[in-house]
Amino acid sequence: MAYPIDLTVKPYVSAHFDEMTNTITYIVKDPNSDHCAVIDSVMDIDYAAGRITYEAADRLIAEIKERGLTLDWIIETHVHADHLSAAPYIQDKLGGKIGVGEKIMVVQETFGKVFNEGTEFERDGSQFDALFKDGDTYMIGGMQAFAMYTPGHTPACMVHVVGNAAFAGDTLFMPDGGSARADFPGGDAAELYDSIMKVLSLPDETRLFMCHDYGPNGRAIEWETTVAEQKAENIHVGGDKTREDFIKFRTERDAQLAMPKLIIPSLQVNMRAGEIPKDKDGNPVLKVPVNGL
Ligand SMILES: [Fe+2]
Repeated sequence: MAYPIDLTVKPYVSAHFDEMTNTITYIVKDPNSDHCAVIDSVMDIDYAAGRITYEAADRLIAEIKERGLTLDWIIETHVHADHLSAAPYIQDKLGGKIGVGEKIMVVQETFGKVFNEGTEFERDGSQFDALFKDGDTYMIGGMQAFAMYTPGHTPACMVHVVGNAAFAGDTLFMPDGGSARADFPGGDAAELYDSIMKVLSLPDETRLFMCHDYGPNGRAIEWETTVAEQKAENIHVGGDKTREDFIKFRTERDAQLAMPKLIIPSLQVNMRAGEIPKDKDGNPVLKVPVNGL
């Protein structure tokens, strides 16, 4: 796939770090207009209490309003398993289209079964405004963005590239954090390696923005690096690490990881583009399938 790379386009990127889930949400702005996109927003949940609030999304909305921006897109790099998306809440306040990879249908099929969703749960991605295929382009004001298909962590993962900035989703972490797990249903370590190599085939100076950072070894939270830095230093794929090394390491490591704390509510909400499921009377409810995951 020949992607429409244009390093002369340099979007303004502002990052919002969510301390509860270690997620970084981005506002990506066209330098030549007032148009922007939001990538990977977060809804707040106190799962123990079953309480949902929108402090993080409200901060994002306030920034967009204060800067007088028009929101064109609300992008999900994938169906996140560790936080809930605030996409519909933001769309309700600011407009914009919600976009995700077209393989969302695979994720909906898998987790539609896990959560025993009825036929009213559509598995065709129709909850989203746009479903991207590999190489699909879209506009943020005057900037052309494109989506790269990067499965492995999940089947619907895409990296979004806007000029000289790429939003890595959960393919890569910062060089000292390595890579995301590949053991969720539909995940695959070999596929993840190949997807990471695709990302690292972008020009060396491409700015890479992470979706998560956990501050390994006590360092302060960071989210921005470059393709060159990842190629040289990434502890899972950089330097002389081979595909075989990666698959072995990733598979052994994943076998020891606990499930993310918010995986059960996250999947139910995120596979619906951020809408909370409702019971037969229309009340918002989340299910907990016992031994289902
Ligand atoms: Fe993820």
